[in-house]
Amino acid sequence: MSKFSIPENTIYICEGSKCSKRGSRELYKNLKQYLKSKGVKDDIELIVTECTDRCKYAPVLAAQPSNIWLKEYTAKDVVKLVEDILKKKV
Ligand code: FES
Repeated sequence: MSKFSIPENTIYICEGSKCSKRGSRELYKNLKQYLKSKGVKDDIELIVTECTDRCKYAPVLAAQPSNIWLKEYTAKDVVKLVEDILKKKV
């Protein structure tokens, strides 16, 4: 058995059909680029998910372990969330 570690924080981005129609794919790409540009891509893991069954709030994402969910989010909301995570505010 071999061990490996992942960042303490993970953002799960739904890319189900409804969230995708409402821009989640583009938001994911932007977030990935943002983390890279800030030099923190190894501090927050990004994981794309299938539908999380909350389509009426699309696009949705979840930050763990803080269990923060964003609905109908924008790129600006995600940047704020990332800043709060990095400052350990959430
Ligand atoms: S497609 Fe994202 S919650 Fe259903």
